Amino acid sequence: MSSIKISLLVIAFLAATPSQAHPGLGFGWGGHPGNGRSPFAALSPDFYQFSCPQANDIVMSVLEKAIAKDPRMAASLLRLHFHDCFVQGCDASILLDDSATITSEKNSGPNKNSVRGFEVIDEIKSKLEEACPGTVSCADILALAARGSTVLRGGPSWELPLGRRDSTTASLSGSNRNIPPPNSTIGNLVTFFKRQGLDEVDLVALSGAHTIGVARCVTFKQRLYNQPDETLEKSFYFGLKTVCPQSGGDNNISPLDFPSPTTFDNSYFNLILWGKGLLNSDQVLLSGTVKETQQLVKQYAQDNTLFYNHFAKSMIKMGNISPLTGSNGQVRKNCRRVN
Ligand code: HEM
Ligand SMILES: *[C@@H]1O[C@H](CO)[C@@H](O)[C@H](O)[C@H]1NC(C)=O
Repeated sequence: MSSIKISLLVIAFLAATPSQAHPGLGFGWGGHPGNGRSPFAALSPDFYQFSCPQANDIVMSVLEKAIAKDPRMAASLLRLHFHDCFVQGCDASILLDDSATITSEKNSGPNKNSVRGFEVIDEIKSKLEEACPGTVSCADILALAARGSTVLRGGPSWELPLGRRDSTTASLSGSNRNIPPPNSTIGNLVTFFKRQGLDEVDLVALSGAHTIGVARCVTFKQRLYNQPDETLEKSFYFGLKTVCPQSGGDNNISPLDFPSPTTFDNSYFNLILWGKGLLNSDQVLLSGTVKETQQLVKQYAQDNTLFYNHFAKSMIKMGNISPLTGSNGQVRKNCRRVN
């Protein structure tokens, strides 16, 4: 097949699936590392090979310090990439502050008083601007920080496609609409993920990110009072009520994976088997009516290597959701505002 034909096919594929992930394109087709001119360039792990070879080292050195100071920061940065990618793709829209032209996603229901880590992203960006001015996008910084945070907590690594560019817009309404709430049913969760081109395997594997980090009382209170959730194991249920009273205490926090809240492992899935998933959205992966997610929870609980492999693959898929590439978007100088 001629290369023109191949290009047309790929363009047709991109055009036909505007809001889907493009996992099949993650191998670097049409990659022009660093030149960023082909409007349909795919992401490529070598993207900064010549333009900023030290990019990942810079990210990792800032992360090491930030996470040593605050172990939870790894979790917060991993979550930031998720909340970026589910809203108009992985384009760093979540990092934009309010301004005359931007209504920030930081004030959406899922983000307000909840997402954190912006100062760490700022520090990475300013170091990268010193080393390689105008080169590494904020969207790629989020993807690199998510991978680095996973690795520094003992989780898997993966070859990370790069070359995302940054949006010039944000979407508060998109953030309110597209990020699944913690009281989701299994049906809701599958639907939210399908909308992003992600399947049941991605849903369960990526939920495994809850092996690190914490959640506020307000995100699981509904399970404890009025009609308490019967899937909650009893001693766990009584413990949670002491952290999360019926009235007040909304910002009290509880670990998502209490036996090992700072280690990236499969204990999250074992907790679910014991009725100790913290969020409704965690527990319904097993208690819901979807056979495939039930089975995956059991498999990951048994097999840490399988969980790691699927998590890595699904992170690449999530990171490929509608990236801006080539001449689309821009490389912001400051992640909080458009150039
Ligand atoms: C499946 C649907 C999901 C739901 C409903 C959900 C919901 C939540 C909620 C409610 C919190 C606590 C927020 C707070 O208390 O303010 C949280 C925390 C967290 N989420 Fe998710 N999440 C989901 C999927 C994911 C995915 C796909 C990732 C990443 C790949 C992720 C990573 C995290 C992390 C690491 C934390 C802890 C953050 C911290 O401690 O700062 N979550 N999630
Ligand atoms: C989830 O919580 C929201 C806000 O508290 C509420 O409006 C909604 O009905 C809840 N959904 C379910 C499925 O319980």
